[in-house]
Amino acid sequence: MIVDHTGRRFRNLRVSLTAACNYACTYCVPDGQRLLRARDELSADELLRGVELLIEVAGIEKLRITGGEPLVTPKFDPFLEGVMAMGLDDVSFTTNGQLLENKVPLLAACGVKRVNVSLDTLHPERFRQIARGGDLDTVLRSIERCVDAGIQVKLNMVPLKTGNADQILPMMDYALERGIELRFIELMRMGHLAHSAAFDRDFLGMDELLTIIGGRYRYNRTDAAWDSTAVRFDVRDDEERVLGQFGVIANESEPFCSTCTRLRLSADGYLHGCLSSSNRHAVAELLRGPREEAVAGLEAALWRAMGDKQDVAFTGGATVMKLIGG
Ligand code: 5AD
Repeated sequence: MIVDHTGRRFRNLRVSLTAACNYACTYCVPDGQRLLRARDELSADELLRGVELLIEVAGIEKLRITGGEPLVTPKFDPFLEGVMAMGLDDVSFTTNGQLLENKVPLLAACGVKRVNVSLDTLHPERFRQIARGGDLDTVLRSIERCVDAGIQVKLNMVPLKTGNADQILPMMDYALERGIELRFIELMRMGHLAHSAAFDRDFLGMDELLTIIGGRYRYNRTDAAWDSTAVRFDVRDDEERVLGQFGVIANESEPFCSTCTRLRLSADGYLHGCLSSSNRHAVAELLRGPREEAVAGLEAALWRAMGDKQDVAFTGGATVMKLIGG
């Protein structure tokens, strides 16, 4: 078992199916560039072999499918069907919701129980400014379709001081009305934001967020799983009835590196032990090779990836979220 000096081990694997995305969110890519697939992306079968081996070698129990945008690639369907047959405790994925509506029957048929949908605003014009692609109504329709099919939806919102701070309360209202958990992701110093004034201009942290939410709702902090990245709250009415939950991924305000169990496999075949490190470990060739060599090679790569984890706090990095999907 690969365990570091603080007792951390890998438990959660996030697999990026493609670097391509049909959005160009302001905080993810500069200049509105649309993201293309990487030149040497692994096939669905190669990625599935990677998952199978990582379950064995790293002790993976949970899996999240990410991107880029995972639904823009035809690899999504065979990959999902493949991983659902592997007996993991939990499989979910993160999507921007543009192509989600038509996938709902497949998700239901495969037994997917949860999806995370990224949505930064309920305002159509603001949506176009932030996402620079896609269309708000399509996302909202997809969300309703999932909820109707009994698939649990979590919403990811990146609060931005100059972009969508006025949308925090409308998003809370929207989520609470539908029994959806809203998760605020503090802006991370990634990619072009790593060394940019835009980070300081737009960063809106948990304290300020809670002040805004407290203007309308009564909330209490609740317990979260030990390796959860989210700080969780419930929202109550005046009679102490719980109206719903929300969470904050407080990368900056309350770093969670010391309990991080995440491992990432990128679409072009690299393992990443830490979002805050630009180190990555090539495994594409291993995944194409004979089993014994693949196991030994992965084990060595996993030890190196474990060594990349930060002890305390996320410090930022040149890695762009689009490539490894958060
Ligand atoms: N900081 C915080 N969240 C980010 N995301 C993408 N880039 C950043 C960043 N720099 C979010 C997306 C999506 C999730 C996968 O990560 O909005 O919800």
